[in-house]
Amino acid sequence: MIDVAIFASGTGSNFYNLATNPELKNLINIRCLVCDNPKASVIEKAKLLNIETLIVNPKNFDSKIDYEKYILENIEDVKYIFLAGYMRIISPYFLGKFKGKIVNIHPSLLPLYKGKDSIKRAFEDKVEFIGISIHYVNEEVDGGQILAQDKFRVDYKLSLDEVTQKVHELEHRLYPKNIIKILTDN
Ligand code: GRF
Repeated sequence: MIDVAIFASGTGSNFYNLATNPELKNLINIRCLVCDNPKASVIEKAKLLNIETLIVNPKNFDSKIDYEKYILENIEDVKYIFLAGYMRIISPYFLGKFKGKIVNIHPSLLPLYKGKDSIKRAFEDKVEFIGISIHYVNEEVDGGQILAQDKFRVDYKLSLDEVTQKVHELEHRLYPKNIIKILTDN
């Protein structure tokens, strides 16, 4: 079993999907969920699944480095970190401790629509395809080597919510599959 941590800040549908994926269950041990938002509903999901949760509010730390050092102390021996809606930029200091071992999922066809509200921005631009990307994390926001992408043609008869739902379905199919690939290839 490979020890991993999942970082999330919000709803946690990707977290839940990873934690309950039958194939991943045989491969990874989710040592903990790291959550920077004490109000996030992902925390409830982790409790439901009996997964240890490290709730770390950055406001309680003097600096970003102190905040990250505290997280590092708690996850030192994990082999991989999977970001699933973690809304913070990871510092070069932290990245240095997990070189090539941090993976993120982003709801756009990177390098397009980096940052927040990607689905909404793409939808408002009436792009032909909306998609998702799974990528290694580096110093750039939503930068880093892309590992996998997938997309669908947008039907503009659907609402933004409906399209968002389709994006999440794609994420839920692709993230576990690609994590399994990363873990078995390395
Ligand atoms: C997902 O769209 C993910 O790609 C992005 O943040 C969102 C998190 O959704 N990074 P959820 O909290 O997993 O439901």
